[in-house]
Amino acid sequence: MSIDRFAVAGATGRLGRHVVDVLTERGHQVVPMSRATGVDIITGDGLAEALTGVEAIIDVASWHASEKEAATEFFRTSARNLHEYGQKAGVAQIAMASIIGVDKAIAGFVAAKKVHEELLLSGPLPVRILRAAQFHEFVGQLLDWQQGDVAYIPALPTQLVACRTVAEELVDLATDPGAPAQPAPGTPIPEIAGPRKETMAEAAQLLGARRGIKVAARLDAGPMRLYGYISTKEELFDLMVDEVHAEILPEEQPGDWREVLRIRAHRTRQATLRHEWLADLLGGRPTLGPNALAVTEATLAALDDLADLDTVLRAVETVSAYFTGAIRREIANLRAERATGLSKRDWQRASGPHVRRMLATGRFPALAKAVHDGTEVDAEASFATGLDWVLDAVAAKLARPPA
Ligand SMILES: NC(=O)c1ccc[n+]([C@@H]2O[C@H](COP(=O)([O-])OP(=O)(O)OC[C@H]3O[C@@H](n4cnc5c(N)ncnc54)[C@H](OP(=O)(O)O)[C@@H]3O)[C@@H](O)[C@H]2O)c1
Repeated sequence: MSIDRFAVAGATGRLGRHVVDVLTERGHQVVPMSRATGVDIITGDGLAEALTGVEAIIDVASWHASEKEAATEFFRTSARNLHEYGQKAGVAQIAMASIIGVDKAIAGFVAAKKVHEELLLSGPLPVRILRAAQFHEFVGQLLDWQQGDVAYIPALPTQLVACRTVAEELVDLATDPGAPAQPAPGTPIPEIAGPRKETMAEAAQLLGARRGIKVAARLDAGPMRLYGYISTKEELFDLMVDEVHAEILPEEQPGDWREVLRIRAHRTRQATLRHEWLADLLGGRPTLGPNALAVTEATLAALDDLADLDTVLRAVETVSAYFTGAIRREIANLRAERATGLSKRDWQRASGPHVRRMLATGRFPALAKAVHDGTEVDAEASFATGLDWVLDAVAAKLARPPA
């Protein structure tokens, strides 16, 4: 059967816009579907109208974040809606773009794509699948997510492929009258990859050199890596945070729990001063990479048996909350200095007349005392003192009551 009219879900995306071009160049009618064109495949807004008279759907819509559950929910709803609305409109088939390696995925976005394939295959309409390697265009995106002066790019092995090439192959598959209506059980799903084996980092270094961006390619891509495939900003950030945890973990662990926590706090501060972007990511969801897990293991091991487990966990949380907050405040000050061009002292001087006027009202006596009599200490000394106090408070809680 020759197909005249296609609807493309995700028509404005990296891949989708090429799918639209290829279909149009080959003389097909195309209905572009994305929220930007007024069609929402999740809420169903505009979907029935868009699918009127459509014979086949190409699904290249995507969810923007890495968290497996949220991405799976997106694909569950999109698969259900495309089948349901498609069947009502008399659509004959769906073709979708997936990712090479989904069958081995256990975490993150790629694991959600595996569910996406299964959900689409279990619906009433026949479904054709093309699995693609990472897109060339995605390398530029990784550089756009750069934090600070250096772009951190994982040394993940890949065979980059251009979106245009994937689009041509996907349209070939969707329009091939001889292709099986659905992948037969046990038969391999078609794949497309570029010709060259390389790493994401190598490709990024080439592009980075053109854009004048320094690329760090040290991110772990060994057997214990977090993701076998990077699809989203969060996945890249998880790898970056894990990389810095290798700097936080000391080579030798002191025997004393206080020293373990003190060293962790100071090394986290020093690492954040070297990699300022870390301040924005500290204290978020825990990173599950091998280095971050080793830091957590070393911390918990140092406190093991000093108190019941819940007390130990609260102790670690309390100290982490302190150093995370203190580091973020210090980095916020450094950024403010850079943004305004005023050091803290210059800023205080510039604010002096206003502060003096407010204090002269007599409404802020405690503040006036702090302003006039308080001692200025540098950030490192303030950090160390606060940390000692928090450790003292935690020590009091760790003491086991007499049996
Ligand atoms: N990136 C890669 O390297 C790679 C490699 C292999 C396979 N793939 C797969 O190829 C497909 C396309 O990826 P991509 O990188 O081109 O994605 P993308 O650039 O993020 O584009 C996503 C598209 O989905 C649309 N969309 C999102 N939510 C929608 C909604 N509720 N209703 C309708 N449309 C919606 C977006 O448009 P609006 O925001 O306007 O709605 C956009 O057009 C995905 O399935 C991906 O898993 C990607």
